[in-house]
Order: sequence, then C-alpha cells, then structure tokens
Amino acid sequence: LNLEVAFTPGELGGAGVGQRTVVVIDVLRATSTILQALVNGARDVLPVESVEQAVRKAQEIGRDQVILCGERDINPIAGFDLGNSPLEFVAERVSGRTLVMTTTNGTRAIVLGAGGTRCMIASFLNAGATAAALAQSESDVLILGAGREGRFSLEDGVCAGMIVRELKRQYSGRVETNDAAKAASFMAARFGKRLAEFLPRTAAGRRLEAMGRRAEIDFCATLDRYAHVPRVLERRITL
Ligand code: MLT
Repeated sequence: LNLEVAFTPGELGGAGVGQRTVVVIDVLRATSTILQALVNGARDVLPVESVEQAVRKAQEIGRDQVILCGERDINPIAGFDLGNSPLEFVAERVSGRTLVMTTTNGTRAIVLGAGGTRCMIASFLNAGATAAALAQSESDVLILGAGREGRFSLEDGVCAGMIVRELKRQYSGRVETNDAAKAASFMAARFGKRLAEFLPRTAAGRRLEAMGRRAEIDFCATLDRYAHVPRVLERRITL
C-alpha cells in the first residue's frame, strides 16, 4: 500500500489526487461539522467552493428544500441558514435535510478530493474509524489536509498522522509512506496524546477561541467520538 500525506492541496501541484482513495481533513472545523451534521440525521451535504455556487445550487434544488451553510472568516455568511459550527447542526435543525455548504478551505479540499476513486471525510471525531476503513482498502491512499489559505495547519497534520499510525498498525501488508506521512506520524506522537490541550494552542484554535468559540474547539478535540466515515460520491457526502 502506498500511503501519502499532502498537508495542503497546493502540494499536489497539477497532478491532482490520482487514482487513489482520498481522505480529506479539516479539523477546525469543516470536516468535524460535516460528520456531526450527518450523525444528527442530515440526508446529505453538497460541498461547493464559492458563495455564488452555493446560492446557485440552492436555487436549482429549491431554496426552501435545502439548508445553506458555511463560513467566511469563521463567521456565518449573510443570507445563509447556518454557519460552520458543529454545535449548530443539531438534529432539530438538520434531520432529513440536504445541506449546501461552502467554507474557506474545507469544502475546496473536498471538491478536489472527490476526484479520487473514493473519497472519505475525516477529523479527530472519526480518526480511528477512518484508519480501520483504509486498512481494508485495496487502493493507494492520499490523506489531504485542507490547510489554511494555502498554508500548513498543525491540527490537520496531527490528525493525518494519527490515521497514518493506526493504519500502519492495522494493515497486514507493507505500507510505503512519503516524507509528509512520516512527518505527520511524528507530529501525532508528539501532540496527539492531549488533544484537548493541544487544539486550542494551534493558530486556528487561537483564532476561534478569540472569537468566543472555545466550546467548538473542545468538541472537535474529542477523539473517536464516532465510528462513522462519511463518503463523497459525485459531489455528495453521505454517511
Ligand atoms: C474552513 O473550511 O476554512 C474551516 O473549516 C474554517 C472554519 O473554522 O470555519
């Protein structure tokens, strides 16, 4: 099994994701929020890159048939129904509903990852389940961090490293890794043990905390809360 990590979409260059199983990670907060929405009964999540695309998609489907959600600069988008906090996506709001979502980094990485042969959505909330699903996989794997505006983000790197370590533990055959996967594994060993202390100290964590969003960080720091791994099929994310 060939296992690569890319800390940001930019690292892929023009090559794209190739014929691989792609795992997309945006711990703070997009992939944590998507999983929470689906666990709380959302029918599906349609990820799009821009606010304009989200509005257009909502109009195509029927504005009152969907929940428009996402963020720009962490804040909810004017005219949208929900932001990008996992705590907003309670069953009363999302059960049975289709969500059209756009976020600064996360949904873009997902749109890119959807070009793989398979695409999964991961965060600390389901890192163990993701590794277990990959251990059954026949195809090569790319773990893709959303990063932050083209730059490395530590929490996505640590989450990638946890999946690398667990996958290597569970996989029966030989696993070949790239340098980024080795670095991610090292970071996970260093920072992965006390996520509740680590996550608020990352750049994204500090930014969220400064905006009064500490409870969301704490939620996103819960390891293996769920055994579900959302899949992306034809730009549609389901459990
Ligand atoms: C993103 O997709 O850029 C992030 O999830 C930002 C956020 O915290 O909402």
